[in-house]
Amino acid sequence: MRTLISRRRIATRIRTLARDIEHDYKGRRIHLIGVLKGACIFLSDLVRELDGPVSIDFMAVASYGKGKESSGQVRLLKDLDSSIEGRDIILVEDILDTGLTLDYLCRVLRQRRPNTLKIAVLLDKPSRRQVEGIQADYVGFEIPNEFVVGYGLDFGDMYRNLRDVCVLSAPVEH
Ligand code: PRP
Repeated sequence: MRTLISRRRIATRIRTLARDIEHDYKGRRIHLIGVLKGACIFLSDLVRELDGPVSIDFMAVASYGKGKESSGQVRLLKDLDSSIEGRDIILVEDILDTGLTLDYLCRVLRQRRPNTLKIAVLLDKPSRRQVEGIQADYVGFEIPNEFVVGYGLDFGDMYRNLRDVCVLSAPVEH
């Protein structure tokens, strides 16, 4: 296990992202949608850095199997609690990898006629992209193609509690 992005760098970057978002929305109410489970920690820290009117909701999707590789399938496991029609939405993800998950979610959410829909991701792995045209409006860190865990990201549902984003080089089965 090797630290790729320290908790300190994460905290600093999230403060900057929050200032960027506040600047772009200029006091308008923002509705953050977190994608469970990975985004819960990033969303928790981001929302507490945002001043002004903010509400939150969550969706859950399944895109990966238990291992490292994407199945390429995206299933909606939990839908939103409330309508997003006419609202300013920021979809919050821990990582943008192949883009399959965000492509699916954006298509679903756009059909519901939000006023605006933007994407915030903590990590972006552009070298892994399979879906053209998917990009985040707010990116914490661009990272190389390494398998990362921690700060919400898992391997076999473990390691989400690590405070740093770490590279898992010799994964242990649980
Ligand atoms: C991860 C991550 C994103 C998705 C990104 O979720 O949280 O939702 O994969 O990958 P993609 O760009 O290749 O679609 P995962 O399925 O591991 O579930 P989790 O959030 O519950 O950990």
